[in-house]
Amino acid sequence: MEEYDTILLGYPNWWASVPIPIATFLEEYDFSDKRIIPFCSHGGGRFGQSLTAIAKLAPDAVIGEGLSVHYSGGAKMPEDFSYWLSDNNIKATPHI
Ligand SMILES: Cc1cc2nc3c(=O)[nH]c(=O)nc-3n(C[C@H](O)[C@H](O)[C@H](O)COP(=O)(O)O)c2cc1C
Repeated sequence: MEEYDTILLGYPNWWASVPIPIATFLEEYDFSDKRIIPFCSHGGGRFGQSLTAIAKLAPDAVIGEGLSVHYSGGAKMPEDFSYWLSDNNIKATPHI
């Protein structure tokens, strides 16, 4: 983890929050001076309470602009993904 300063954290919305393994991951590490950029798939509840949960579980992290995707995201997914990355100042060309 010392090698990383930005973490793209992807998870499905489960019961309006993060799944337990994601919570365990966040509890496990020190996120001081790190940026967490969340993205989640969901069945209609968007982020639910998951962003609040992430902020509580990693209180020292800076939380970037999140992306929520309805199930697999549909036809606009690659475009949405590119905008989301650039909103977070991440230069990358996703190969989807
Ligand atoms: C145990 C469980 C709980 C879920 N809870 C929610 C929820 O609270 N809100 C929501 O919008 N979707 C919920 N979903 C739907 C998932 O977010 C959705 O199935 C997933 O993001 C899509 O990925 P998948 O194709 O791997 O299932 C839940 C799914 C499971 C299996």
